[in-house]
Amino acid sequence: MYVCVCNAVTEDDVHSCMAKGACTTAKQVKAACGMLPGCGSCTKRIHAMVSEYRTASELADALTGGPLPFTAVPDPAPAAVPAPILTQDTERGAAPPTAA
Ligand code: FES
Repeated sequence: MYVCVCNAVTEDDVHSCMAKGACTTAKQVKAACGMLPGCGSCTKRIHAMVSEYRTASELADALTGGPLPFTAVPDPAPAAVPAPILTQDTERGAAPPTAA
């Protein structure tokens, strides 16, 4: 859906700009989207979108303790090889017990 009809800027354009972290104010969104001065009827909507995004982002950071730093993914642990079951008989060279 169009947010700014005069400049043909959509909601996706605005969300994309904010998601990249480059735009945290309506003024920055307008500049990043290449919006030229027009009728101005979109300004209130862009302010609301920026405010919603910042509120959601701050809430997510508060709940999760903030953005997590990038960490290397550890190598998977090698598969454990089960140790043979030894009994007194098998230790003396007898055949291990078999299941019936
Ligand atoms: S709708 Fe954005 S300037 Fe007119």
